[in-house]
Amino acid sequence: MKPHSRSTLLERNKSLERNPLLERNPLLERNKSLERNPLLERNVLLEVRDLEVSFQGLETVNVLSGISFLIKDSETLALVGETGCGKSVVAHTIMNLLPPESRVKGNIEFRGKNLLGMHEREMAKIRGKEIAIIFQNPSIALNPVYSIGHQLAEPIYVHQREKKKTALSRVALALKRMGFANFSECMNYYPSWCSGGMNQRFLIAASTILNPALLIADEPSKGLDKKCIVELEAELGNLKMERNSALLLISHDLEFVQRLADRIAVMYAGEIVEIADPSSLFENPLHPYTRGLLNSLPEKGFIPIPGFSPSLSSLPSGCRFHPRCPLREKRCTQIHPEIKETGQRTVRCFLSP
Ligand SMILES: Nc1ncnc2c1ncn2[C@@H]1O[C@H](COP(=O)(O)OP(=O)(O)OP(=O)(O)O)[C@@H](O)[C@H]1O
Ligand code: SF4
Ligand SMILES: [Mg+2]
Repeated sequence: MKPHSRSTLLERNKSLERNPLLERNPLLERNKSLERNPLLERNVLLEVRDLEVSFQGLETVNVLSGISFLIKDSETLALVGETGCGKSVVAHTIMNLLPPESRVKGNIEFRGKNLLGMHEREMAKIRGKEIAIIFQNPSIALNPVYSIGHQLAEPIYVHQREKKKTALSRVALALKRMGFANFSECMNYYPSWCSGGMNQRFLIAASTILNPALLIADEPSKGLDKKCIVELEAELGNLKMERNSALLLISHDLEFVQRLADRIAVMYAGEIVEIADPSSLFENPLHPYTRGLLNSLPEKGFIPIPGFSPSLSSLPSGCRFHPRCPLREKRCTQIHPEIKETGQRTVRCFLSP
């Protein structure tokens, strides 16, 4: 179901002057990470390959290019990057919820089935049940005319054909798990009676109620206070540990992502520029953009990346990050760098090993 149909449910440091890229021993790192990485043994749940998305309007805007990543069973992959880089478009493409003016190329395989081009009837069986999404904007995702209890129970009737009483008691349990002490009362609330934070938590409860194999959470911590963020982390952790759900976590909050993710994909101007596990990424970021993002964190002194992200309708030649990159060379302004995989690290930069 489309969110806009209002039916129920559904983001220089001194170390940049040195080049840490030249100080690493890729072979040693690869061997170490191969020994330790339990993710290698899991099955691939979702594989996105060479995804390209454009929007046709007065001009064609290429929003996503060459996006490739995979998510394994019960793995948490985080997508981070500055506003407008295309994170939500990735999520909506997976869910087959892009507007008609969109054009999509590439492959998105979920349990071996290509989701792109899948008939809507077949996709509707997967959406909500096997792949669920927590939309970035809760007020769009909830229907104002139905009570919370009714809206949250609906996917249980639709996908699992449960009786009303059973469905409603499962909703009450989900609300209780999300930390609502007055969960019975909340069942009768309407979205307009509730704060943005409350509606966000209702949506989180709704999206996890069917134990999806993959949950896409687009900025789930946005608008929540610290207590709610702790509860959200517990619920997402529980979803992974007890129910083996995988998670595509989209967030500007790098610390939140560091605590939850098994791997982090960094996006810049419609492309993935780096993928790594959180400790490698935070301790030894390889892409200059990733280093810039980390240096803008408060504990690193709030040093912003100079300049702005380019407009997706007039991208710079060569490396998309070159106008802001302190390490750029002549070739960076002319040639577009391909993404390269070395061991467990994936980087789009000429200076990567
Ligand atoms: N329907 C559309 N038509 C044209 N352009 C669109 C459409 N939807 C999204 N875009 C553009 O695609 C780009 C990526 O948008 P997206 O919402 O995915 O960014 P984001 O990384 O999620 O940003 P934020 O962190 O602010 O949520 C933006 O430039 C946006 O304007
Ligand atoms: S390719 Fe060049 S401009 Fe791009 S991030 Fe690497 S060093 Fe910087
Ligand atoms: Mg977004």
